Amino acid sequence: MLSELDKKARDILAKNDRGGFTIPTARLYPFQWNWDSAFIALGIATMDNQRAWQELEMLVEGQADDGMIPSIIFRNDDDDYFPGHKVWQTKNGAINGTGISQPPVLASVVAQLAKAHGQEGLKRAKALFPAMMKWHRWWHECRTPEGADVVCTVHPWETGRDNCPDWKIGLRNMQTDPNLEPYQRKDIEHANPEERPSQEEYDKYISIVKFGREIGWDQTLLTNKGPFLMADPGIFFILLRADRDLLSLAQELGFEEEAQIIAQWIKGAEISANQFWNEEFGAFCAWDVRTGEFSHGFSNASALCFYADVGTAEQREKTLSHMERIASQTKFGQSSWDPDAPLFESQRYWCGPLWCQMNYMIAKGLKEQGEDVLAAKMRDDLKNVIELSGFYECFDPLSGAGCIGHDFSWTAALWLAWASPSLNQQTPA
Ligand code: DGY
Repeated sequence: MLSELDKKARDILAKNDRGGFTIPTARLYPFQWNWDSAFIALGIATMDNQRAWQELEMLVEGQADDGMIPSIIFRNDDDDYFPGHKVWQTKNGAINGTGISQPPVLASVVAQLAKAHGQEGLKRAKALFPAMMKWHRWWHECRTPEGADVVCTVHPWETGRDNCPDWKIGLRNMQTDPNLEPYQRKDIEHANPEERPSQEEYDKYISIVKFGREIGWDQTLLTNKGPFLMADPGIFFILLRADRDLLSLAQELGFEEEAQIIAQWIKGAEISANQFWNEEFGAFCAWDVRTGEFSHGFSNASALCFYADVGTAEQREKTLSHMERIASQTKFGQSSWDPDAPLFESQRYWCGPLWCQMNYMIAKGLKEQGEDVLAAKMRDDLKNVIELSGFYECFDPLSGAGCIGHDFSWTAALWLAWASPSLNQQTPA
């Protein structure tokens, strides 16, 4: 039987439906977001398989000619959001999008739904396969800088972990463009400015967009000569996991040549994963590719090594001990930033709050690696915090207070697909 929260979660997804795709939340994020849609599809699939596939198909419609699937698909203008397409000015796809991407969870979600939906699932996955292949190729070719062998990122927004203190290093090493046009932020009209990125960070975010626009969004040039270049354990681990899932799909669907290429990507990533290991700190951390400087703090992306199935026994032990250290200080884990590191703020976006989609991926990885107790804790913490505060964008890990956007689609979706006790009694964490 559906609980009151199950019904509320369904209502949120219905309310945020814009005709085949789902926005994260009204006003604050009024378009289709890339990784949001992938997680949202998992929630919709608990009610309507057809509509879940449509969510993913409409995301792929936004693919740019070079293969990138943008972080935001702009099917319409909406002055509630800044920066909209008038600022990005990309011209490389059938539908307008941003000039950067977002963590590539799509293939993992497609593989999961294909497995659950029998012949129809395989048919829908087969139709999506070429676009996913093209997108993964884009990551491996356009986001691997010359002279490096890891996939990197050119913008904090591309990581999805916008203002995580990890990015302070890369942002400090770049200049705000002195000719930045005046602009008006909209996010702080819809949400508490104390929970959003700072003005200084926004000026740098927009400076990178200006640079991209001025080079016509040449993605190779943006990677090699852009103002910001960091290696993100989040993108790296999520892509490695998605490559593994794409390989399973390729094998099952008969894409033999593609399977060989994907296997090479996986092999390369397994070797280069160690470049993320910060020996001094004892965790997988972000680093600035140009200076080699490591971030010194445990983020929730550090915990995704299990999801990617990388790390030696010692590296995994150390990762688990960071998680235990953090759990001993928070009421609801996993916090997005390390409470013992500078710049931790429990309610400011990616400087501390708990995020449902990160808990979901972390728990999945832990469970697969036999860490059942901790995996169950990730799910329980999300369940408890939603029961306490509702369907927020993210949550204060100390108090459980909901932060920033409310009636949030991916929180509702992952409640339905994973955290709801009434709907997931049989599902292991
Ligand atoms: C925002 O506007 O805060 C988004 O996270 C950018 O993708």
